[in-house]
Parts: sequence; structure tokens; C-alpha cells
Amino acid sequence: MNGLDGEMHATPIADTRAAAAAGLRKLRAVGVVGLGYWGPNHIRNLCNLQCADEIFACDLDDRRREHIRKLYPGVAALAEFSKLLDNRAVEAVIVATPVSSHFPMAQAALRAGKSVLVEKPLAMSRAEALELIRLARENRCVLMVGHTFEYSAPVRKIKQLLDSGALGDVFYISSTRANLGLFQRDVNVAWDLATHDISIITMLMGRAPAAVSCQGQSHYRDRTEDVALLTLDFGNSVVAFIHVSWLDPNKIRRTTIVGSRQMLVYDDTAAQEKIRIYDKGVTVHPYYDTYGEFQLSYRYGDIHVPRIEEPEPLKVECEHFIDCVRGGFVPMTDGLSGLRVVSVLEAANESLRNGGLAVPVAFSGGADA
Ligand SMILES: NC(=O)c1ccc[n+]([C@@H]2O[C@H](COP(=O)([O-])OP(=O)(O)OC[C@H]3O[C@@H](n4cnc5c(N)ncnc54)[C@H](O)[C@@H]3O)[C@@H](O)[C@H]2O)c1
Repeated sequence: MNGLDGEMHATPIADTRAAAAAGLRKLRAVGVVGLGYWGPNHIRNLCNLQCADEIFACDLDDRRREHIRKLYPGVAALAEFSKLLDNRAVEAVIVATPVSSHFPMAQAALRAGKSVLVEKPLAMSRAEALELIRLARENRCVLMVGHTFEYSAPVRKIKQLLDSGALGDVFYISSTRANLGLFQRDVNVAWDLATHDISIITMLMGRAPAAVSCQGQSHYRDRTEDVALLTLDFGNSVVAFIHVSWLDPNKIRRTTIVGSRQMLVYDDTAAQEKIRIYDKGVTVHPYYDTYGEFQLSYRYGDIHVPRIEEPEPLKVECEHFIDCVRGGFVPMTDGLSGLRVVSVLEAANESLRNGGLAVPVAFSGGADA
């Protein structure tokens, strides 16, 4: 089970939790770098989990450090990342800075022998992601990526339903993630928002798509697309469409999965009943001489809403990271999972610059790294 000894299979959350319950030690210290919009959520979860003797919070911006000091007086705030890395008590670091800094910061942390949870996406290129995987192995550190939705109860329920065959064969998946804002400075909307859908969809499918095409437009900043449409081709007529936008009047986070047996709609903005399973479908009848080539009939069955207990996904993610560091386990969203998503994004970028041409996705699982 110990992924740092060469066995590279991800350890299920239930197993890392069971190991923790059986008595894994507390960490000496853990640090979070980046205290903007998202980083403070990591601080809150780490404080609640009481997983380390000390928690450090790091940001270049005085106001952000002051904000955290006020909220969490027990957390030590510092400006320089290098000081966090120089502290031998710090065993793990969470990187929640802008995407363009993920690679240099994670690289420095791994070189300093710290385990790292990097916010999504893992890096800005396949080459960077591969280097982080290599460094983590070399330094026997845990490398995890913050694909938060893979830790959410609805997404895990959908995975269970798909794996059990309840939906039948997947025909297509369609996902929309739109909102007004938040514009990012260093990446386009695909690298910001579609990262979530790509991680969810590749996790559900259990593989990367063979090819991706992407179209998008920028309306406020040159070459920083604020709206994009991606098509992920999984082969055998299985396709996924992802529409992402920072320029939409409504907040939409909806994924539809159409299977040969049933159809499912996952609405992450719904307060309750996030998943609805529709017993709807199409039946092709055998050939009738008198009735033309073929006949279709449509089935309009019941709608089922599974009951889902939903802990905060980020809490599950943070806890899993800490458990993996404590026990030396390979996380569910490890470096390879990060590489898979970055490989799709890199191909999407190439497609975007070439008028939406289908671009093969260079990812062949463990053989890559
Ligand atoms: N998993 C999720 O659901 C989710 C949600 C939102 C954001 N994110 C990710 O979180 C990361 C941060 O996003 P955000 O919206 O909080 O960004 P942000 O711009 O609001 O905050 C980034 C912070 O990092 C600090 N920073 C930048 N460089 C630094 C350095 N060298 N040393 C110390 N501090 C530095 C900035 O001062 C700023 O306070 C991004 O990677 C984003 O993709 C993930």
C-alpha cells in the first residue's frame, strides 16, 4: 500500500481513513502558500482537522496575512515561501497560488523534501507535470493535485453508478460550468474552469480521451479566452462536451450523462437532490417490412433521486492529503491524475490555436511518467 516504495496505485479514501483511525501520527507542521480566494479554505480545513502541531500560512501580500491572523490566531503567518521550506518541521505544503506559479513552487517544495498538494491544474505543461512526478519519486514525497470535485460525494456516487452498470454504456457526457467571473490573470477559462470537468469526466471514464478539440474567444484580454467549448473524443462513439464561461449571467454547474440504460443529471448548484437519474431511453425495434427501415420508441420512466450525505469536498481532499503524508500512501488524485488533466488541457490549447482542430491527447497512463 505504501506508494513511496514503488507501488504506485492510488489508495482509496476509505483505506487511508481506516489507517488514520488505526493510529497514524500527527504531522509536526504543515504550510499553505497563497491566501487569496481559495487558500483560506485550506487553512480552515487544516485547523478543523487538527492534523498538525503547527500550521503556517504564507503570502506576499500583508493584507492577506493579516486577514488570516485575525481569523486564526493560532496560525503563524509569513511572507517568504523560502522560510516555509527552510523550516525542517514542515512536512507538507499546500500550493494555492496562481497557476503559473504552481510548478516553481511545487518543484522547490519537493526539492526541500516536503510533500505537496498543488491546486488544480497541477502545472502549465506536460513537461512540468512530469518533472514534478519525477521529483516526488526521487525525494519519496507525496504529490497530490487539488481536483476537488473528485472528492465530492455526488461525483463519487456517479462513479459508483457507472461502474455498477446502472446507466449502461455511456453514449455522451455534456457539462456546463459558467458564471460571471472570476477572470484569472495567467490562464484562460479552459485552464481555470474546464480543469474541473476534465478531472471529473476522465475519472468517471477511467481514462483520458484519445483526442480533444477546443474553440474559444477572448472579449477582454488578448489570447485569454473567457468562453470555450471543448469536445473530448473517447473513441467508440463516446464523446464529452464541455462548455465553460466567465461571461454568463447565471451560475451553472451541470453535467448530463446519457447512457444506454438510463440518463443522469448532476446539478452542483442545487442545494439538495444534486443527482437525478432518469429512467428514460430509446429502444430500436426489430425491422418491420411494412413500416420503413426501422422504428424507435421512447421510454419515459421514473426519476430517481439518490440520497447523498455530503461532507465538504475540500475537507475530504485535505484529510486525504494529510492521511497520505502520514501513511506514505499514493493519493487518489496523484501526480499522474494531474498529468492526465494537463495533457488534455495542453492538447486543447493546441487545438484552440489551430481553429478547433482535433488534437491527439498524449497520455498513456503510468507509462508516461
Ligand atoms: N479546487 C478548487 O475548487 C479551486 C477553486 C478556486 C481556486 N482554485 C485554485 O487555487 C489557486 C489560487 O486561486 P485563487 O483564486 O485563490 O487566486 P488569488 O489570486 O485569489 O490568490 C493567490 C494568492 O497567492 C499569493 N501569491 C502569489 N505568488 C506568491 C508567492 N510567490 N509567494 C506567496 N504568495 C504568493 C497572492 O498574493 C494571492 O494572495 C489557483 O491555482 C486556482 O486554480 C481551486
